[in-house]
Amino acid sequence: MKGLILAGGSGRRLRPLTHTSAKQLVPIANKPILHYVVEDLAGVGVTDLGIIVGDTAEEIRASVGDGSRWGASVTYIEQSAPLGLAHAVVEAGGFLGDEPFVMYLGDNMFEDSLEAVVEGFVEESRASARLLLSRVDDPGSFGVAELDDDGAICRLVEKPNDPRSDLALVGVYLFGPAIHEAVRSIEPSVRGELEITDAISWLLDRGDTVEHHLLEGWWIDTGKKDPLLECNRLVLDDVVLDVAGSVDEASVIEGMVAVEVGAEIASSTLVGPVVVAAGARIANSRVGPYVSVGADCVITEATVDHAVLMDSSRVTGGTHLSDSVLGRCSEVSGDGSTSLLLGDHSVVELGD
Ligand code: G1P
Repeated sequence: MKGLILAGGSGRRLRPLTHTSAKQLVPIANKPILHYVVEDLAGVGVTDLGIIVGDTAEEIRASVGDGSRWGASVTYIEQSAPLGLAHAVVEAGGFLGDEPFVMYLGDNMFEDSLEAVVEGFVEESRASARLLLSRVDDPGSFGVAELDDDGAICRLVEKPNDPRSDLALVGVYLFGPAIHEAVRSIEPSVRGELEITDAISWLLDRGDTVEHHLLEGWWIDTGKKDPLLECNRLVLDDVVLDVAGSVDEASVIEGMVAVEVGAEIASSTLVGPVVVAAGARIANSRVGPYVSVGADCVITEATVDHAVLMDSSRVTGGTHLSDSVLGRCSEVSGDGSTSLLLGDHSVVELGD
């Protein structure tokens, strides 16, 4: 089975961060989301990977490389324009050939094991597709599946105004070769995209079998600030105490905190879960819970909780920062409380 990872798209809902960086490379617990995806696929033996890239191709190539770090081999496929998930399958046709494949959206993360999801699809199933479903509170934001009395999928609707079920389509799909005819047979939707939901509906209408697997654990589409922070929180819940960096005697470490070699903590309190990457410096501050501090960040005289600080960002001078995502090399300073989504190199000065 091959893997097709979608890492094109413009990341509209995470602007301004995505003006300069790919949404799939935003770090969760200091690791890019896309790395979790590659790791997940390689972990179930799916190592022949195609990655669909768009405007951020260069950054994605630099971050993932040839995949050998995960024992995988990566083929990059440039999408001619961001015209939808089914369009990505059309453009990946040459790479995929007639092999079954897992299509994994590069900004999706979920808790359940991928092993259980792929089990038996290649060897035993006659289905043209297997979909992952998750119960959500806001089905209108996703593709939605309706089940018949026997519990089989009978209808799929993309972002319905009036959802008839709370079963959202997770951004991980298993397909057999029949999907290729489907993606070539559908028309663009009102948003001008070739929707994978329409391609799967085409298979259903033709009478093909479409299986599903209901996730038990959490699932997050990280494409917006609040779900991204929620994902960071969920992943940080698994951090274990590992203080390898330097922590002075005036500092207090509470709960699960990981401090990498080369990070320095002085006169500060860290309330786990917190991760601090190499080169970061935290002084006279209170950090946590649920904070990821990227490489070479500086936090001084500040309070930070529920936040993702990307590499080389700075929070200084009396700031209380909550529920925030700071882009690389951004700076927040001054006396005041705030919640921010900042692009790379932004500067915010609070107070007078
Ligand atoms: C896409 C799919 C949608 C699915 C979602 C999962 O939506 O079209 O069916 O539920 O991914 O993340 P998009 O993120 O492109 O709006």
